[in-house]
Amino acid sequence: MEFGVWTKSLASLSVDCLILGVFEGGELSGEARTVDAACAGRLKKLLERGDFAGRMGETMLVTDLPGLGASRVLLSGLGTKKQFQRKSWRRAVQAALVAVARTRITSCAVAIDRPEVKELDDYYLGRQVAELAGAAVYRINDLKSGKKPPASALKKVLAGPARKSGATERGLAEGDAVAAAASVQRDLANLPANVCTPAYLAGQALALGKRHGFSVRVLEEPAIRREKMGCLLAVAQGSAQRPRFLVLEHRGGKKKGAPLVLVGKGVTFDSGGISLKDPGGMDEMKFDMSGAAAVIAALTLAASLELPVNVVGLVAAVENMPGGRAVKPGDIATSASGHTVEILNTDAEGRLILCDALHYARRFDPAAVIDVATLTGACVVALGHFHSGVMGNDARLVQELLEAGVRADDRCWELPLTEDYAETLKSNFADFANVGGRDGGAITAAAFLAKFTQGLKWAHLDVAGIAYQSGAQKGSTGRPTPLLADFLLHRAAR
Ligand code: BES
Ligand code: MN
Ligand code: ZN
Repeated sequence: MEFGVWTKSLASLSVDCLILGVFEGGELSGEARTVDAACAGRLKKLLERGDFAGRMGETMLVTDLPGLGASRVLLSGLGTKKQFQRKSWRRAVQAALVAVARTRITSCAVAIDRPEVKELDDYYLGRQVAELAGAAVYRINDLKSGKKPPASALKKVLAGPARKSGATERGLAEGDAVAAAASVQRDLANLPANVCTPAYLAGQALALGKRHGFSVRVLEEPAIRREKMGCLLAVAQGSAQRPRFLVLEHRGGKKKGAPLVLVGKGVTFDSGGISLKDPGGMDEMKFDMSGAAAVIAALTLAASLELPVNVVGLVAAVENMPGGRAVKPGDIATSASGHTVEILNTDAEGRLILCDALHYARRFDPAAVIDVATLTGACVVALGHFHSGVMGNDARLVQELLEAGVRADDRCWELPLTEDYAETLKSNFADFANVGGRDGGAITAAAFLAKFTQGLKWAHLDVAGIAYQSGAQKGSTGRPTPLLADFLLHRAAR
């Protein structure tokens, strides 16, 4: 897709469609009024008839208004003027671009006035428009046998109004890259587990590395064994799919600069193992590699934008299955760190693969380590589907993630990872158990990981509630790639 900034008068712009905002009650926003003046008040007339209420998410396409360079106008509801803020602007732009992407419109200009807030400056205007346009034209990579519906006709999106030149263009370019990265996450996560196996993830990472210019090393089982990743191997042992451990590297920063290490949970299917899950909705456990997909996506972003930062991505890819060779409740595994773990519940497998991956991160002398995982159902219970859970051992790192989430509109919320929670992980037979109780499950999971990250600056993102959607719109959301992207972009800028 091509992006740009509109600067001329909207009325004379030669695009297929102008996107304008209307407040609830039928009031045209500022830019819309100038367009209305050019087309002899036709928009106002339409609103006076009460055909368009301006409710949030509502859109209406109007064609062939006189006096305009554009053949169509799309009205997008902004909700009430009193409550107009960044979120309403974003939702109006999103609804408009989704509506436009369903038509044969090839070019459009987004001309919905912004609220005056610093998180929506010229740069973020561009970022958001490009990210939302990318999401609007995304088509799910389904395996339906019929003829594929045509790709969206939308090829060109202009953003505005911008106050000064440069920042919006940069926002558009970077937003375009963020959207592409989010699509990488979505495509990987949407694939079924019989296609997207650990070996497939490794192959895709290699291909993306080649395309975008980051290095990828794949550890197969013998190498994983040499690393003594006993907890990861315990999870993998029940499956016919052999595990992979991926090391992705983008070296854009100082030659010896400490890298940021991103660690992704890549359980390509989580049946629960011997602690088998209920069948209802088990298909959704193909999304249990969303953290890994987001880490791979983040590396494609860092490499494609040539960000001046050093980033390492570690992906632990396994399938969690029951079977004659599967790990059993009560089995004790030894992690790469040397700690022994009593596996009381084989369905708490994410932390088992992550503890070995987090230990592996130490060899990079990282500036910070962030793991990304669809780790607990408890996090979904606690936070629902809007916020990721974030915890860590470094308040500044957690704060940085919270702020990146706000800017990227891909939010996280901190849960209290205090010493108390670690006590629930006591075992009579090993250094720790892999589960505490049911209560506070998102935090006890993090408390387990914390055992392996002492001395590191570490944060953990539990994305179980936000990485995918259930129901009629079932599929990957592409989150938390925008959050990681914003984090990286900010680290690159400082
Ligand atoms: N992959 C699941 C967590 C999950 C649940 C992700 C629902 C998305 C939606 C994870 O491996 C898991 O099974 N966790 C258990 C932990 C429990 C056994 C302590 C859970 O949340 O039930
Ligand atoms: Mn599980
Ligand atoms: Zn899992």
